[in-house]
Amino acid sequence: MRTPLIAGNWKMHKMLAEARELVAGIAKGIQNIEGVEVLICPPTQHLFPMAKAVAGTRIMLGAQNAHEEDQGAFTGEVSVPMLKETGCTHVIIGHSERRHLFDEGSVRLGKKVRAVVKAGLFVVYCVGETLEDREADRTHEVVERQLDEGIGTDVPADRLIVAYEPVWAIGTGKTATPQQAQEVHALVRAKLAAIYDQATADRTRILYGGSVKPGNAADLAAQPDIDGALVGGACLVADDFVAIMAAASSVASGAC
Ligand code: 13P
Repeated sequence: MRTPLIAGNWKMHKMLAEARELVAGIAKGIQNIEGVEVLICPPTQHLFPMAKAVAGTRIMLGAQNAHEEDQGAFTGEVSVPMLKETGCTHVIIGHSERRHLFDEGSVRLGKKVRAVVKAGLFVVYCVGETLEDREADRTHEVVERQLDEGIGTDVPADRLIVAYEPVWAIGTGKTATPQQAQEVHALVRAKLAAIYDQATADRTRILYGGSVKPGNAADLAAQPDIDGALVGGACLVADDFVAIMAAASSVASGAC
């Protein structure tokens, strides 16, 4: 049984006062929602105050990126041990914006994944094809390659969460249909079984990301291999984020 995880990737949004307000809204909204784990990934600058804000709630705290080295002359970067010190338990690695806007390549991403798990944190490793890849029928090839590049048997699966985010669905309002998403999630699970083993693959959560909204969350969550969501735009509004959690919770409890 995989507990659904609803993760909010705030990207570069929210001033500190707005961040506090958002967390307060989420904390209030989730009080009656059961059977779903909740993660927020605010900008690095807000991690210390957000750790205080989530204390005493079941909201978990994550970062959006990390450097692969523990320390060194890397101007502008933040290491995993530094993130851990803030109270972070999760780090997103390989988000498409890091891959495409910041040119993060496979070798670096593989090192980052290992840095996160070495510190005992959970890695949310993102994969996903561009529109060009999809139209050229290369989705499977691209996603399998990204998994091969980022993970391996030296990455403990009990610290791994995979997020499938088709690049063409991120921030565009175009969601993959539940069937399109399920097809790739099944592929990801099969690949995890090939890398680890079937039992491990069956235990590992695979999140869907890309224009997840309250209106499509239940249909996505109902797919057998979709174990939660990595939410961008809709996680910036407490009511929307909570509604996505409520949808995942109803599906998990069999109410939908
Ligand atoms: P949107 O939900 O805004 O499409 O963003 C998805 C995403 O990139 C989450 O990491």
